[in-house]
Amino acid sequence: MANITLMMIKPDAVENGHIGNILEKVASSGFLIKALKLTQLSKNDAERFYEIHKERPFFDELVAFMSRGPIVAAVLKKKNAVVDFRTLIGVTNPSEAAEGTIRKLYATSIGENAIHGSDSDENAEIEASFHFAKRERF
Ligand code: RTP
Ligand code: MG
Repeated sequence: MANITLMMIKPDAVENGHIGNILEKVASSGFLIKALKLTQLSKNDAERFYEIHKERPFFDELVAFMSRGPIVAAVLKKKNAVVDFRTLIGVTNPSEAAEGTIRKLYATSIGENAIHGSDSDENAEIEASFHFAKRERF
């Protein structure tokens, strides 16, 4: 059965002009775009989105990074969307990411790593609702 994941193209990848290449790679890997927008997180939005990491040493840096410029948010649909999308983007640290993954191609560091993908079906639904109203989802 098809399920969804929530993608964000992070501020570094937007600044570096990678939106088009990343969307092409996502679409050609079998993901259907069910919602899409260019938007910017406030500091408070970023704190809420990444609340699970609030005790981590990198939290303040993460919030500053994620709110510093526009991002692209999207809901993507595919069979095994969560797992397959995390395979497509590669592991958190781009220097350890597999060849051909989005982080290997477009990320610069473990903090500024180009793209986000949900880590479970439950979080995908929570994160999709965080970014999109019902009338923006198809
Ligand atoms: P994401 O949630 O953004 O898809 O990334 P992820 O699952 O691969 O990694 P996660 O452990 O959830 O970490 C969230 C984001 O925090 C930043 N980070 N910085 N400086 C550091 O050591 C460090 N570690 C993590 C990254 O932007 C990471 O994607
Ligand atoms: Mg994560």
